[in-house]
Amino acid sequence: MKFFVDTADINDIRELADAGLVDGVTTNPSLVAKTGRDFMDILADICATTDGPVSAEVTALDADGMIAQGEKLAKIADNIAVKVPLTIDGLKACRYLTDNGTMVNVTLCFSAVQALLAGKAGATYISPFVGRLDDLAVDGMELIADIRDIYDNYDSIKTEILVASIRNPTHVARAAVMGADVCTIPPATLRQLVKHPLTDKGLDAFLEDWKKTGQDIG
Ligand code: E4P
Repeated sequence: MKFFVDTADINDIRELADAGLVDGVTTNPSLVAKTGRDFMDILADICATTDGPVSAEVTALDADGMIAQGEKLAKIADNIAVKVPLTIDGLKACRYLTDNGTMVNVTLCFSAVQALLAGKAGATYISPFVGRLDDLAVDGMELIADIRDIYDNYDSIKTEILVASIRNPTHVARAAVMGADVCTIPPATLRQLVKHPLTDKGLDAFLEDWKKTGQDIG
């Protein structure tokens, strides 16, 4: 399973990329707003940091506008994936951009039939938002299982499942068990993945016992 990092913060991306944890990046308008930086500059910096796909979201609501913005964004670098919302116009833009060789991430997916539509529109990625479903007391991960089953039923669907709105390591573990293709993970959660209290406790105990041997590996 690939790990994308869900942020527009270049410092976080660089640090996590150095640790080998970044297969790609997803941004959205809210994440861009948090940085206070110019969108195009941010994207150019991110694309120079990773060879993996970098999702850049359009803000137009009509298909023609999305296509025009998507084409502009795609010119920034070869690894831009244009992000469009899961609306009729978004699906139309998805089909057009995909047919013209641009990667497309269809975002704001909250149902299995929406994911089926994105698959039929040729999306490179579908982004189901599991955390926002959990917030409504709906198990977001059940949606991932349904989408996996649906996509596996049809060889013609090549769309990758990109689990989004991840809030904790359990989301990541369950996504991997279900065979999701990608998780996009906020930096803090990505750092959390490595942590386990028994790892820390075990390491402390080993080092204490090692001291007692009086040896030094060098
Ligand atoms: C995905 O591409 C989105 O940027 C993101 O995962 C949304 O997550 P949120 O629900 O935590 O805002």
